[in-house]
Amino acid sequence: MAHQHGSPVIGVIGGSGIYDIPGLTNTRWETVHSPFGEPSDKLMFGELGGQAMVFLPRHGRGHRIPPSELNFRANIDALKRAGVTEILSVSAVGSLREDLPPGTFVLVDQFIDRSVARAKSFFGTGLVAHVSLAHPTCGRLRAAVAEACAELDIPHQVGGTYLVMEGPQFSTLAESNLYRTWGCDVIGMTNMPEAGLAREAEMCYASVAMVTDYDCWHPDHDNVTVEAVVKVLLENADKGRSLVKATVPRLADRAGPCEKGCQTALDFALITHPDA
Ligand code: ADE
Repeated sequence: MAHQHGSPVIGVIGGSGIYDIPGLTNTRWETVHSPFGEPSDKLMFGELGGQAMVFLPRHGRGHRIPPSELNFRANIDALKRAGVTEILSVSAVGSLREDLPPGTFVLVDQFIDRSVARAKSFFGTGLVAHVSLAHPTCGRLRAAVAEACAELDIPHQVGGTYLVMEGPQFSTLAESNLYRTWGCDVIGMTNMPEAGLAREAEMCYASVAMVTDYDCWHPDHDNVTVEAVVKVLLENADKGRSLVKATVPRLADRAGPCEKGCQTALDFALITHPDA
């Protein structure tokens, strides 16, 4: 996974409701193969005001693949092979806090990973590596997204803890309440192992979590349903896409690797002896 410190290429992983990016020019869908299996879909290559972009619909076009069956390794590996250096991840989440109503965008900085049935690493027997996930998202990317949110007047919170559940069923009330006591802000099914794999692949990763519902803990709101999620998503998808568009120019002037260390994450992570 040697990284060429060349021009940035921005990858967007679009979650439910985000199946394209407006304003992308010179677009083409291309199949990118990965030794880890098939990515969720073809990748869409394009440009936004001269900036090279790659888009991947996380669940495939038409939302065909459920969270537990996503091939996260193939998705991240395919983006890496496509030259992507920074990933903007956009996804729908439930809110675990009163003050994060539907329509709020949370720029996630932490995760609690309760997913249980997913391949979580590119490494394993033969080549052992332990990257740091102390700060699992890129602060530089997050700051750029925060500026773009402010410019577009999108209600947002900078920072927040995303509880990753396995699904596909939504949480029980006891689980939802437990995650609230843990200090989690939002809940979703997809950002891990995605973020951890991006770190192993030495790519910057920022997560935009679009709140669609109050999960099932709020006494004054209905328990989450797919219908409610989709309704709020449709109302907010345009904002999500405009946000990507407004963020991209703010990332254009980087020279050299990310100063937060995302792109050199393996420098001190490999433990297997080179001659072993
Ligand atoms: N995605 C959107 N809302 C969600 C919720 N309440 N739980 C898990 N994933 C979600």
